[in-house]
Amino acid sequence: MEHAVNPWVAVAYLIAGVCFIVALRGLSSPATSRRGNRYGMIGMAIAVATTLITHDIASLPEIVGAIAIGGGVGFVIARRIQMTAMPQLVAAFHSLVGLAAVLVAVAAFLNPGAFDILGGDGNILAVSRVEMALGAAIGAITFSGSVIAFAKLNGNMSGAPILLPARHVINLGTLLLILALTAGFAVAANAGPGENGMFWAVVALSFLIGFLLIIPIGGADMPVVVSMLNSYSGWAAAAMGFTLHNTAMIITGALVGSSGAILSYIMCRAMNRSFISVIAGGFGAENGGGGGGSAEQRPWKRGSAEDAAFLMKEAGSVIIIPGYGMAVAQAQHVLREMGDLLKEEGVNVKFAIHPVAGRMPGHMNVLLAEASVPYDEVFELEDINGEFAQADVAFIIGANDVVNPAAKTDKSSPIYGMPVFDVDKAKTIFFIKRSMGGQGYAGVDNDVFYMDQTMMLLGDAKKMVEEIIKAL
Ligand code: TAP
Repeated sequence: MEHAVNPWVAVAYLIAGVCFIVALRGLSSPATSRRGNRYGMIGMAIAVATTLITHDIASLPEIVGAIAIGGGVGFVIARRIQMTAMPQLVAAFHSLVGLAAVLVAVAAFLNPGAFDILGGDGNILAVSRVEMALGAAIGAITFSGSVIAFAKLNGNMSGAPILLPARHVINLGTLLLILALTAGFAVAANAGPGENGMFWAVVALSFLIGFLLIIPIGGADMPVVVSMLNSYSGWAAAAMGFTLHNTAMIITGALVGSSGAILSYIMCRAMNRSFISVIAGGFGAENGGGGGGSAEQRPWKRGSAEDAAFLMKEAGSVIIIPGYGMAVAQAQHVLREMGDLLKEEGVNVKFAIHPVAGRMPGHMNVLLAEASVPYDEVFELEDINGEFAQADVAFIIGANDVVNPAAKTDKSSPIYGMPVFDVDKAKTIFFIKRSMGGQGYAGVDNDVFYMDQTMMLLGDAKKMVEEIIKAL
């Protein structure tokens, strides 16, 4: 039985799909990202309007009621959420996409007639059985994986990797079992509405594997996990699109799925992690979380805002490295002001952004753009790392892990292998953080604090920069 699609609907969804592709293109550079976002909004408006006009699955009051409830809850949460809690919020939202995919598949399984997927023999069409089993599987993995990611990021659960013995065997076995059950379900003779138990087994095992894949991933690798779950949620949405015969969902889901996968790959490269190992559930986590901060007292120098103002004014070049603490303190605006004042003094000012600085991809780029820092003053890790040797000042504001040399030298460190800024090559280092006790995300000590050329500027990032501005 073929599901007839209104040609105008197909055209509208196609236009929406093109808008999404143009949006992604725009989002690839900060300079065009606003325009990209606008295309994305137009595409989404077209897709939503088309769905509302045709609404062949649910009635209008049902759709509007669901949007009102979901939209209301989302609105309140988005207003209340702290910028710093963004990664867990994103993980929580991904879990909902996963759950929605499972529910759509379950609905189609129980009432295939309503989805036009019931064959003449009283069984659900075989191809639809494959779609719904895969959709439910990807959705369930996304759901339970995202719930664990949320709990780890939100501190409800230890962020350390939990390594089960023989976990790779268990994971691989479970995945193979899911595939075998999907195949069994597709060829089963008894596949009427709600009839075959293999579907439920696929759902249950997929919830389990989502959980198993994420628990062994620890601390510093969580950013990659969040973007990977983002990718999974896209594939889950695409699977829903197949079940619902909705082209816009298939296109959008595939775009989210593939761009999320590419982003995860880029982040893995940035952190020098193997992509496969992260997908497979912490293959590389064997070396455990060693390298913790030692309690020994080491000498360090305290600087003042006046010291920083004086030395930077005299400097030829200053490289500013923002990190998570800048986001916490919301210091981006005063930081841009400080950069402007230094430029007026003839100092060459550059901003250096690490791919995983902050708590989400592009975190620092967004904040600096919000503060109108010119794009041509913002540099990526690989483009600027060679310049520290000639820099007079490395100004570290709320960054920590991304400048930690242990990543280069200490094999037992959880961040070992991640490329970091060579700040130790700069003549003078200013390091803003609130206390000597506080550590970065990975929870390890940082040798930069104790270097001869380092001056610690202890205090809130925004207040400290305001004082520097006064002294300038
Ligand atoms: P972190 O290593 O997390 O260090 C943050 C620093 O900011 C700490 O030294 C902290 O010290 C300081 N700080 C916090 N609040 C402050 C405030 N109000 N004023 C001044 N300083 C403040 O930051 P990073 O270098 O940006 O590293 C990112 C880390 O997060 C990496 O390990 C990365 O893997 C991980 N991560 C990244 C992402 C993404 S996608 N970007 C997602 C999740 C995790 P005090 O407490 O002493 O102030």
